[in-house]
Amino acid sequence: MRERLLAAEKVKSIEWRDGGLHLLDQRKLPMQECWLVCDSAVAVADAIRQMVVRGAPAIGISAAYGLVLGLKARLAAGGDWREALEADFQSLADSRPTAVNLFWALNRMRERLGRLKPGEDPLAVLEAEAIAIHDSDREANLTMAQFGVELIRKHKASPQNLLTHCNTGALATGGFGTALGVIRAAHLEGLVELVHADETRPWLQGSRLTAWELAGEGVPVSLNTDSAAAHLMKTKAITWVIVGADRITANGDVANKIGTYQLAVTAMHHGVRFMVVAPSSTIDMGLENGDDIPIEERAGQELLEFNGQRFAAEVEVFNPVFDVTPADLIDAIVTEKGVVERPNAEKMTELMSRKRLH
Ligand code: MRU
Repeated sequence: MRERLLAAEKVKSIEWRDGGLHLLDQRKLPMQECWLVCDSAVAVADAIRQMVVRGAPAIGISAAYGLVLGLKARLAAGGDWREALEADFQSLADSRPTAVNLFWALNRMRERLGRLKPGEDPLAVLEAEAIAIHDSDREANLTMAQFGVELIRKHKASPQNLLTHCNTGALATGGFGTALGVIRAAHLEGLVELVHADETRPWLQGSRLTAWELAGEGVPVSLNTDSAAAHLMKTKAITWVIVGADRITANGDVANKIGTYQLAVTAMHHGVRFMVVAPSSTIDMGLENGDDIPIEERAGQELLEFNGQRFAAEVEVFNPVFDVTPADLIDAIVTEKGVVERPNAEKMTELMSRKRLH
């Protein structure tokens, strides 16, 4: 299946070339396909904050490249580059708080610097590490797609209706996608009748990005408002809700795009299976449970305005952009290390003790 998945890859959102980080500007999709070039760590941190690039694995990969750009400038400036680089670590770490992949990637870069041997070129070493992070995410996507498809097929081996939330595809990762990677692979395997895509308020990752990615590949997709999900589960014979994750804690609780929690509650009520697909770089064994996950709140403007045009009354706004789904509402967590069904602390510990495949 790997070869068929690779052949199906169409969209790319992150390119490292000509000494810069090229990002497909996701704020402008699907109406315009423009690329933004970042040439400094601060520019990458801004691009993450402003959602030029978004999705947990994609922001981790971008942060790693951002650090390479930071180091290049620090080396050119002379002086103590290690001390100066701390400011770049900090600005990248401050860009968004919830997706742990960002911190995972920065830690991995820091560890690699810590293992620098005398005579090694730090810039070449960090660049190679960032590329390795990017490549391994791509490989992890392919492995997860295969695991996810096996799980879907185990329960029903014929075309079925799936529901997804936010965007977890090529735009959100270094490769094929996490939840959307499973869905795309399921389509290639003849297991998809129709994909129901939540529009995903307020940033519209579903309508602007997921629908665009799926339609572009000929995967049958139908867009719905987030609030239609319960009605869909009741009336459209949906077999699986399949979503990504921004952080998974040691007990299997999952932070993902706001609205995921209510989908899990609704799925449980309707007997619809609930699958979370995320690489092990999304798992934070340092947090006991989801209560400890920092939840990003974004500007009220995102709810009061559309395309810069005010449409709501001037009132207080509460705009958390992630929520936490408790482990006991989840049927399966699919990672590149394997699948955990009915997650709990013991199973998560066992999963994380397995060797990394990529
Ligand atoms: O705010 P976003 O668009 O960065 O949120 C993205 C999500 O919540 C995704 O579901 C998650 O990062 C997984 S992406 C493979």
